[in-house]
Amino acid sequence: MSERIPLARPELGAREEELVAAVLRSGRLSLGPVGERFERELAAWLGVDDAVAVSSGTTALHLGVRALGWGDGDEVLTSPFSFVASANCLLYEGARPVFCDVDPVTLDLDPAAVEAAVGERSAGILPVHIFGFPAAMPELEAIAARRGLGILEDACEALGAVDSEGRKVGARGNLATFAFYANKQLTTGEGGMIVPSDPAVAARLRSERNQGRAPDMGWLDHGGLGFNYRLSDIAAAIGVAQMERLDAMLAARDALAARYESGLAGVEGVKTLPGSLGPERRSWFVYVVRLADEVDRDATIASLAEQGIASKAYLPCIHLFPHLREFGYGEGQFPVAEAAAAHSLALPFFPAMTESQVARVCESLAGSIR
Ligand SMILES: Cc1ncc(COP(=O)(O)O)c(C=O)c1O
Repeated sequence: MSERIPLARPELGAREEELVAAVLRSGRLSLGPVGERFERELAAWLGVDDAVAVSSGTTALHLGVRALGWGDGDEVLTSPFSFVASANCLLYEGARPVFCDVDPVTLDLDPAAVEAAVGERSAGILPVHIFGFPAAMPELEAIAARRGLGILEDACEALGAVDSEGRKVGARGNLATFAFYANKQLTTGEGGMIVPSDPAVAARLRSERNQGRAPDMGWLDHGGLGFNYRLSDIAAAIGVAQMERLDAMLAARDALAARYESGLAGVEGVKTLPGSLGPERRSWFVYVVRLADEVDRDATIASLAEQGIASKAYLPCIHLFPHLREFGYGEGQFPVAEAAAAHSLALPFFPAMTESQVARVCESLAGSIR
């Protein structure tokens, strides 16, 4: 059989090795200068004043929820078509996710559905820029302003996306989170970043990620409740190395998506997702296609696997997981999200993928539609 093509693979090289080795030699494995450098460089790249590094996208979301003061009895409007962490972060603080259906084209929160779901207990909106496509932030911000709601953007899949007003996702002044797991546009292995909305929030985030310590406090001094959500300097060193190549890696993802787009044109039963609909630009995180309703997705996945090609049903709706069904959610409530979940398929996608690998995936997929 020809070489197996995985779904994702991180881009790691000599520069990562060099910067990680430098951290090891320095003996400053945490709370050192490399962590601060990673924060500064990502903030500068985004065009924001500050960014706070944390241990994952999930912990970034958790601190964001706390910073907004969302807790017991509060309802937060969010997307059912997401990775489960965007709802779990609300549950950690006793807030309730109120799911609203998504737009059939962008697969992001539909502002009209959000508007219709705002109620007395609504405290905020948590939009998810799913698959790197920028959510309708101007519309959602208008609803939030009218109804007095806070906003936490889950940009964990969207580093490098540009919104309909030409701004990088995460740079609108809202709290916004990024994630750096190994399949992301930029990786630190495990890691995350939160863009604070102002300096006071930044100080709170830095304290809470570090067991409630203020910068001038000793190791056994704590000004309040906190967590160990720190990012190690070893992970940050990988991030700094990745920052140097971020633009090139994003461009490689764009080129790959374009190759898929032409390779899949005319393949019966397969529809590609848009990179853009107007001025906004998707940051290609995964390459997901929509199979026609009559296609047997499981059989297609099995056939691709036989040919050495990884693929995945992507994503399941999160309101249907057992712990969210406890809130009264069930099948049929969000038809657009549920249809997307039922018919979407992720294909191999990583910057080092070659032209011939993309061609092989496209050909195999065309022959695997059942
Ligand atoms: C939309 C979304 N939110 C949150 C997360 C959580 O990030 P992490 O896995 O780093 O905790 C992810 C990561 O997969 C994600 O895709």
